[in-house]
Amino acid sequence: MSETAKFILDGETYEFPVTTGSENEKGIDISKLRGQSGYVTLDPGYKNTGATESAITFLDGEKGILSYRGYSIEELAEKSTFLEVAYLLIEGELPNKEQLEDFNENIRKHTLVAEDMRKFYQAFPHHAHPMGVLGSLVNSLSSFYPESQDPNRSEDAVDLTIYRLIAKVPTLAAWSHKNAQRHPVVYPKNELNYSENFLQMMFSVPSEDYKIDPVVAKALDLLFILHADHEQNCSASTVRIVGSSQANLYASISAGISALWGPLHGGANQAVIEMLENIKNDGGDVTKYLDKAKDKNDPFRLMGFGHRVYKNFDPRARIIKKACDDVLDALGIDDPVLDIAKKLEKAALEDQYFVDRKLYPNVDFYSGIIYRAIGIPTEMFTVMFAIGRLPGWIAQWKEMIETKQPIGRPRQIYTGANARNYVELSKR
Ligand code: SDX
Repeated sequence: MSETAKFILDGETYEFPVTTGSENEKGIDISKLRGQSGYVTLDPGYKNTGATESAITFLDGEKGILSYRGYSIEELAEKSTFLEVAYLLIEGELPNKEQLEDFNENIRKHTLVAEDMRKFYQAFPHHAHPMGVLGSLVNSLSSFYPESQDPNRSEDAVDLTIYRLIAKVPTLAAWSHKNAQRHPVVYPKNELNYSENFLQMMFSVPSEDYKIDPVVAKALDLLFILHADHEQNCSASTVRIVGSSQANLYASISAGISALWGPLHGGANQAVIEMLENIKNDGGDVTKYLDKAKDKNDPFRLMGFGHRVYKNFDPRARIIKKACDDVLDALGIDDPVLDIAKKLEKAALEDQYFVDRKLYPNVDFYSGIIYRAIGIPTEMFTVMFAIGRLPGWIAQWKEMIETKQPIGRPRQIYTGANARNYVELSKR
């Protein structure tokens, strides 16, 4: 007998079906609640509200589990590559050799962007934040590819838009960095793999090609894998709700980039390094900053700590922390900011305030240290997150379109003024 939930409202009993997911997560299907009872639910920040069923990513916040299409993040981080993970997220299965080669070739073919797009960069001030540049340029891609306007046009047209996005975003991102430096842009070299190509577009200069260090390229590929998707987070939910209006995929992804920019979300990786630098420059007293984070009168929060879902460790943070040590050792870098991070983590994990609130380091706490070691400027850290998250956003959008989800339109409880008549200006 299927499980149900009973609500007793105004003396009436209403029964709603309970849905059980493949990992035994339970949800009360209240899609008929308002029609039957006139009531809506209220859940600011959607902390208890499922927006959709999804087969893409599974998280268990209590057990620190993260898997993409059933494969654990630990296995994928160790054995896969970013483009293979992108295929897995978008298509639902690991590709065979031919499928992976075709996917890689389709990405390689589209890494160049229309030369006209360089004019956009000239219009931005050099101090423009690269997330604002990236969001604008991704949205402008729909102008260069008008056939992408209709998300239901054809599977081939959707696939072409997907290839163009995954291929062109690293180019657009690297060019925003070159624009900030007032340096000439560097064009993609398609004989290189995805991470290597991005690095050479970021760091080559006319007089000298960037020397690719395999340790650096592998570390970047790992970071992209770890950021590739995270179910219904703020930016993925934004991509879904924008796409639910049948706006094109470029517009939906641009909206996701905007949502990711915030320091409570993807912008945290930039905020973590700025915080650690401040602590270092302020004498390295981590206790002083823990006290600030606990002080309700102080807006300071420990950036890179806490998570809406993980109330235990964030499995990505564990993997990145180990990669930090490996990459810095391989590059012979001794970064005092890493020492501060480890001191801060140890102190916070032993502090009752953080223990009581189950606040642990999240994906953003250590990632910035590797980006720094690679030479990525701090302002580009969230752009790195966006490059990694792109296939996840695409997979979420594709699932939403293919399952014909209705346009997203939440309800509210009105608390404003009751009906009143207009008062002439002379009488106010
Ligand atoms: C990402 O959702 C995702 O999946 C996101 C992400 C992804 O891959 O897409 O994982 C990526 O966004 C990671 C999170 C990056 N953000 C930060 O590191 C910013 C710092 N963290 C916080 O602002 C906070 O922890 C959030 C935003 C991440 C989560 O906030 P919640 O779930 O809304 O929790 P909350 O704000 O209600 O906090 C609960 C309590 C509060 O204290 P009390 O009111 O109970 O006394 O914990 C406290 C908060 O004040 N708290 C913190 C804290 N985070 C929460 N106190 C100090 N420092 C912090 N970092």
